[in-house]
Amino acid sequence: MNQQVKARKSVFDDHPEVVMARQRLEFSSHVASLGMPNPYLEPHEGFNATTVRKYGREMINFSSYSYLGMAGHPRVRAAAKAAIDTYGTSVSASRVVSGEIPLYTQLEGKLAQLYDAEDAIVTTSGYITNAAVLGFLLGPQDIAVCDALAHNSLVSGTRWSGCRRVNFRHNDPASLEAVLRMSRRTAKRALVVLEGHYSMEGDIPPLPELIEVARKYDCAVMIDEAHSFGVLGAGGRGVRELYGLPGDAVDIWMGTLSKALGSCGGFLAGNRDLMMALKYTGPGLSMFTGGPAPSAIAAALGALEVLEAEPERVQRLQSNGKTLWKLVTDNGFETGIAQGTPIVPVILGGGGRAALASTKLIEEGVNVSPIMAPAVPDGEERLRFFATSEHTTDQLTTGVEALVRVIRAM
Ligand SMILES: Cc1ncc(COP(=O)(O)O)c(C=O)c1O
Repeated sequence: MNQQVKARKSVFDDHPEVVMARQRLEFSSHVASLGMPNPYLEPHEGFNATTVRKYGREMINFSSYSYLGMAGHPRVRAAAKAAIDTYGTSVSASRVVSGEIPLYTQLEGKLAQLYDAEDAIVTTSGYITNAAVLGFLLGPQDIAVCDALAHNSLVSGTRWSGCRRVNFRHNDPASLEAVLRMSRRTAKRALVVLEGHYSMEGDIPPLPELIEVARKYDCAVMIDEAHSFGVLGAGGRGVRELYGLPGDAVDIWMGTLSKALGSCGGFLAGNRDLMMALKYTGPGLSMFTGGPAPSAIAAALGALEVLEAEPERVQRLQSNGKTLWKLVTDNGFETGIAQGTPIVPVILGGGGRAALASTKLIEEGVNVSPIMAPAVPDGEERLRFFATSEHTTDQLTTGVEALVRVIRAM
């Protein structure tokens, strides 16, 4: 914030989010005046890894979704630096008009292979990928049938498209069937929108059953693999590998480069003609937007090489997830419908409680983010722990011991 400029009037002063931000700022100042740390927007130094340097101290960290420790990996960093030396820091054009570089097609080829798909497209942002692909594919005559906990980027895509959006109960094939029975007939195209691993709950969909219902009602299926790729399946190839499904079991696999791949950007994999259409004319994907940074694409390629060379990272990640979840549940904490994956929510109920617990944990040298409404329903505010392949058992145990002390004292 520029402290030298006095607050100026804005037509958005009474916008509900602006009003809320002002209240948040007041709360933060109050928290700071009590000598307590503010859990939001606090810069960290160095890597956001199993430890992080923040508030002038080194802390055990559960707030990084670098699931496989790729974001700071020497080989991944070296790949990013080499790409800068070869292609510069930006391709300085949209892909379709002069921005294309071979790195894009290299990564697309690998991702297509990993998803047993005909082709793939890489993009600058996971969020925009979801918003843009739904905006591109669906229109007012169509329907998006979303899991009730589908990520905000997917919901944004349905708004962008102008299609009708209906939700079914989270991970419930019977509810999906009931919704489709009611609404499928009136829509031209229908797309069932799911995630491979839910980012707030840490649970996995009954994918074969959901796909079966979707197909029965002539629907296409899209899976967001943001927290699934690198995390699920024996080789970290995501929910497809977990269930042993062929690539064409669904129509669109979507993923991000920002989590297990330690980079930034998004991807889609699927039918060749569809991917080609997105590459030529997808607004926000390859058109009307700059091509992804060469360093970001090279970093993801580097991470895939590390994953191939060191598949044991996936086993370590999955084992750490189970250990963390067991430690948390053995101590009597509420983890909702989490299944012992590397996402472990500790549901505290009440934004104040989650924020206070996070603040107190910082004082204990443990960094874990509070998740508030509207990211989760009111009353289900939580601390969300991410386990990574690189956490030691000692770090997991120390973190949960601190959690126990903090919650007992609250
Ligand atoms: C399920 C899901 N989809 C999409 C995204 C957006 O991806 P990105 O952060 O890479 O833009 C996120 C981000 O956290 C996510 O959790």
